[in-house]
Amino acid sequence: MRRPVIAGNWKMHKTQAETRAFFEEFKPLVSASRHCDIIVAPPFTAIAAAVDAAKGTLISIAGQDGCWERAGAFTGEISMPMLIEAGCQSVIIGHSERRKYFGETDAIVNRKLKAAIEAGLQPIVCVGEDQSERDAGHTEQLIERQFNDGMATLTGPDFSRILVAYEPVWAIGTGRTATPEIAAEVHAFLRRLAAKRFTPGLAASARILYGGSVKPDNIRGLMAQEEIDGALVGGASLDARSFSAIVNF
Ligand code: PGA
Repeated sequence: MRRPVIAGNWKMHKTQAETRAFFEEFKPLVSASRHCDIIVAPPFTAIAAAVDAAKGTLISIAGQDGCWERAGAFTGEISMPMLIEAGCQSVIIGHSERRKYFGETDAIVNRKLKAAIEAGLQPIVCVGEDQSERDAGHTEQLIERQFNDGMATLTGPDFSRILVAYEPVWAIGTGRTATPEIAAEVHAFLRRLAAKRFTPGLAASARILYGGSVKPDNIRGLMAQEEIDGALVGGASLDARSFSAIVNF
């Protein structure tokens, strides 16, 4: 049995005050929710406020990104050990917005992944095709490349610590969710890649989340798919009511 994960990615939203207000409203709505891991990824400046607000709850806090180096002359960057010290337990790596706007490649994703694991963070590694790649019938090819270049060099034990998030770029922030069947197909493909590279056992226990316009009204259909182990939620995670409705699918 794979334990479900519902993770919220706030992107560049919420000040510290807004973060505190979110948790005040959110905590009572999920205080009885023990059926899944709950993760919130605020912007860096609100991590401390989120960690403080989530104390004594089962909600864990994640970074949205982190550098591959531990320390050094990298203006503007935050290292994985810094995220740990701030109270994070996981970190999103290779989100499509990082790849698109900040030039992140699979090689960078791979370095960040290793740095996260070395620091003791649980990486949430994002993969996914854009509209033109899907239209051209290249989805599996692209996913395979992102898998091979991003995470295939991990050891088995390290692979068992990561969460993979399948986020088709055409579904992010567009209101166009992949159907549960489309998502499940790609999840099954990722699992076959993991079985080939690692072991069938590791592939069977890998947790693969879906992301892209997940909302309270489509989460149940997605979670009904055997292949889908959870969700990475953007827009709908900003509101305590809608995010709690997703958590309590
Ligand atoms: P969305 O974003 O739920 O707003 O589509 C998902 C994501 O980018 O992680």
